Amino acid sequence: MKQQLENIRLQALADLDAADTPAALEELRVKLLGKKGDLTAILKQMGKLSPEERPVMGQIANAVRADIEAKLEERKTAIHAAALEAKLASEALDVTIAGESYTIGHQHPMNQVLQEIKDIFVGMGYKIVDGPEIELASYNFTRLNIEEGHPSRDRSDTFYFNDDDSVLLRTQTSPMQIRAMEISDPPICILAPGRVFRKDEADATHSPMFHQIEGLVVGDNITMGDLKGALVNLMKRIYGQDAIMRFRPHHFPFTEPSCEMDMQCHKCHGTGEVDGQVCSTCHGEGWIELLGAGMVHPVVLKNCGIDPEKYSGFAFGMGLERMAMGRLRINDLRLIFDNDVRFLNQF
Ligand code: PHE
Repeated sequence: MKQQLENIRLQALADLDAADTPAALEELRVKLLGKKGDLTAILKQMGKLSPEERPVMGQIANAVRADIEAKLEERKTAIHAAALEAKLASEALDVTIAGESYTIGHQHPMNQVLQEIKDIFVGMGYKIVDGPEIELASYNFTRLNIEEGHPSRDRSDTFYFNDDDSVLLRTQTSPMQIRAMEISDPPICILAPGRVFRKDEADATHSPMFHQIEGLVVGDNITMGDLKGALVNLMKRIYGQDAIMRFRPHHFPFTEPSCEMDMQCHKCHGTGEVDGQVCSTCHGEGWIELLGAGMVHPVVLKNCGIDPEKYSGFAFGMGLERMAMGRLRINDLRLIFDNDVRFLNQF
């Protein structure tokens, strides 16, 4: 019997050492120590022993049980630790691996300049307003004193949608003058930036879609001096105190008198040449046309129900891309629309 117990002990310890899952351990525990287990089977035979042998065997049997229980406990802890170890290894996080980098965008250079311009006009008391890009011909042309048959109404210059001549993509922001005067009485002081559309071939200074910023001021005793004051203030703020501007007489059907304002070309500094070549930015002009302006024509005031005997006003419409080109020293307008990040990242 002693030998049997010793065998059970050796076999049990070896089996327990080999078990490597909680389920295998449990199975062994039942097999070794359970009611129908090996050890119990031996103990049941104790009755056959002599009274002298019994306590000796009992002692050995208890020692075997204690050994098995200790081993069980040891294996249980070891298996648990190994499982934890494996889990940690599989979920390991290497905080030293270089992360994915994200680039954050920024405002488009043209919008940066638009924001500057808006800020300056807001500082002069202008209200920023918005209007439709799909416009009625009556607002875009007729009520602006642009008569039927005027070349700018031609289908070769203006985008219409179909045979209907009464709806179009606005060719200028000037219809916002009509819309502003229609909804409020003087004093009026608005700035209306937005997209306009013309059938132009794209080149360094032209694009079939571009942005204009319309300004309109109507009130008591508004003069050409007020117009020049507002525009010169804008230009000096945007281009610096030493910016060189010029006003030229011009004609617009909706202003009288009318003028255009040019800025000296930032590329050729007014010479019209760069390295012996005609300057591509101003086409050799030495000047870049920035805006049209003038005193609101009495007919236009009347078209909007405002008495030209009582009120006067000025209006201007400037090309935003051209303002941005001068401000940021961009030599080709198309760069503004290409959205090449190598270009955009410079601003
Ligand atoms: N709308 C004119 C243009 O697109 C510019 C302009 C606006 C002229 C306001 C005078 C007054 O050329």
